[in-house]
Amino acid sequence: VSLKETSQPVELFVRIERGGGTTLGAQIEDQLRTGVRTGVLRHGTQLPSTRDLARQLGVSRRIVVEAYTQLAAEGYLDVRQGARPRVAATALVEARPSFHSRPSERPRYDFQPSRPDLSAFPRHAWLRSLRRALSEMTDEDLGYGDPRGVEALRDALASYLGRVRGVVADPDDIVITAGFTQGLNVVLRTLASRGATRIALEAPGNREYVTIVERTGLGPVPIEVDTLGLRADLLAGSDADAVVVTPAHQHPAGVVLSRERRAELLGWLRERDAVAVEDDYDAEYRYERSPVGALQGLAPDRIVYAGSASKTLAPGVRLGWLVAPTWLVDDLAQEKHLSDRGTSRIEQRALADFIERGEHDRHLRRMRAVYRSRRNTLVAALEEALPGSAIHGVAAGLHVNIVLPSGHSEQAIRREATARRIAFETLADYRADAPDEPATLMLGYAQMSESALRAGVAELAAAIAVAAE
Ligand SMILES: Cc1ncc(COP(=O)(O)O)c(C=O)c1O
Repeated sequence: VSLKETSQPVELFVRIERGGGTTLGAQIEDQLRTGVRTGVLRHGTQLPSTRDLARQLGVSRRIVVEAYTQLAAEGYLDVRQGARPRVAATALVEARPSFHSRPSERPRYDFQPSRPDLSAFPRHAWLRSLRRALSEMTDEDLGYGDPRGVEALRDALASYLGRVRGVVADPDDIVITAGFTQGLNVVLRTLASRGATRIALEAPGNREYVTIVERTGLGPVPIEVDTLGLRADLLAGSDADAVVVTPAHQHPAGVVLSRERRAELLGWLRERDAVAVEDDYDAEYRYERSPVGALQGLAPDRIVYAGSASKTLAPGVRLGWLVAPTWLVDDLAQEKHLSDRGTSRIEQRALADFIERGEHDRHLRRMRAVYRSRRNTLVAALEEALPGSAIHGVAAGLHVNIVLPSGHSEQAIRREATARRIAFETLADYRADAPDEPATLMLGYAQMSESALRAGVAELAAAIAVAAE
């Protein structure tokens, strides 16, 4: 026969001193009152039952009942028969200045680039993988384990990346990270510890990467991007020790690194004994022609290939991977270990299962068709609504760049669009300086239905027309 515990246990941090100047009841009251007033005990917070707290503190239940009753009378607690005691929703809390920025209003038309359709996340298949992962994991699997990550995932990724991207990957040379951003941090810190000082970055490029390079104590060196991709010919004069590059689909310009530039980049890597970080963030999405293979396959001893689940599944998954030159992998693993002792091994196993069972390929095939169709709809609507503008970049990824005829002001368009709650980015967002370029809007299409895309373009064209007046 088991003794049925009627109330669910709730822990509470209260310290009492016996033999002090105040009674035990007063000490409990004081601490709870202060906790509520200062906001430490937030509105609605569950508290232990009187019986539970009395047991936790080793005092008689009567003392706790009296303290709770007093605090309820003062308006601090909600104590009702049959309900769990809680901090009263109306309890007065001392005002504290808040430094959090408020989330802005949800856009009516959300053209923000680089985001997959979150409503298409394969919840059921992921849940099945998660369930299988957890049920198959041994107790030992729940420890820290190898700092490079779970072997099953490194195995699955080595096969997948070889098959889909032409990456030369040995599971031993893979390090699992919490997304590309952490991978970049880990690589940069590792290179810095080995003596690197200057890191070449694409311009235009993600401005956060400039900050990340600087925070690592390294010097960012911007290298221009043109219609053939990164100006690899400029690397020789840059004095950089490494370069971060998006060869398959330059982010944000949308161009592909040309064959000549690839050769130039590889030549520089060898001559300079330098390292490239290949950010292959959205290579799975190609709509017209077959994707160009990863650069890494041409120089696996000089290139750290970096991938992420943020575009293929969802950013909230927070999983990424580095395929490193063998000579660098131990240092990367050590840096990853120092950074966070590893990424959730439960999620890693879920992704391994998801890939192994073909769910990843199935999801991508489905999404590629959806995104291709959305992209076609967006491009057709733009061509109709904004004649004289040009679509730049290849048919790939999750956004299109539209270059407006000269004379348009990005600032004026943004003002008009914001008033209509249309969200997008511009190419200038990806530059530290503002070169004299025609206004270029980056429009993401992945998160919008085709009818919303049409309506959004009509609204955007109206905003552009007003801005031009
Ligand atoms: C160029 C580029 N690379 C990689 C990523 C993915 O980063 P993470 O894996 O940290 O989500 C993004 C995200 O937007 C990106 O824009």
